[in-house]
Amino acid sequence: MNIKLERFNDQEALYNRAFEIIGQHLNAGAKSFGLATGGTMVPLYSRICQSDLDFSQCTSVNLDEYVGLPRQHDESYYAFMQNNLFQTKPFKETNLPNGEAQNVEEEASQYEQLVQSKNVDLQLLGVGENGHIGFNEPGTPFTSETHVVQLTPSTREANARFFDSIDEVPEKAITLGISTILRAKCILLLAVGEKKRAALDALLSGEITEKFPITSLRTHSNVIVLTDL
Ligand code: GLP
Repeated sequence: MNIKLERFNDQEALYNRAFEIIGQHLNAGAKSFGLATGGTMVPLYSRICQSDLDFSQCTSVNLDEYVGLPRQHDESYYAFMQNNLFQTKPFKETNLPNGEAQNVEEEASQYEQLVQSKNVDLQLLGVGENGHIGFNEPGTPFTSETHVVQLTPSTREANARFFDSIDEVPEKAITLGISTILRAKCILLLAVGEKKRAALDALLSGEITEKFPITSLRTHSNVIVLTDL
């Protein structure tokens, strides 16, 4: 198996290890980081913000963004990144898809070109309860590039906790495709909390199938998975 799995009894140790891996990549000369959002990333970004890691010569590309949510909205991924990381840890250049673009299909294809040109050294990933990565929902071809997606009811429900009601959760998003994510030289996935057990089990012991986008990671040669499960 190409996946290096590390299990932790407590979350603090898990986040310390994630922080250590990021520091090692930075010290080894990594300049391009693929970043993720979601509750899983909050303690990691907080750990980075308290550190002296210096990203001022680095570029970031984020995985995804909601369509139609203004950047100023607290739950836009733009705002998430500003609040949780960039305000404290400036990067030389940061990139997210523009979910407010007039033509989101066009925005997706431009973002694909941009990400390809950045040659991501380390891609951070969380995972959805249904095994999605980025916003690549079950059934997404592994060959997919950056595209506009219709979010599934289960993903909107899972993310409703960040909004006042489920009606406010956008119905669409722009996400890196699976093939785009797999271009990264190294992938660091965090699967934290009981709700991620089915996705982790699929990754570690199920067949490689588009029903579980996370299983696409088995086709990559350099994946590290940290989990408390
Ligand atoms: C969203 C994001 C994913 C993230 C997932 C899990 O759907 N698009 O990138 O991995 O949520 O989020 P959480 O860490 O909050 O469980």
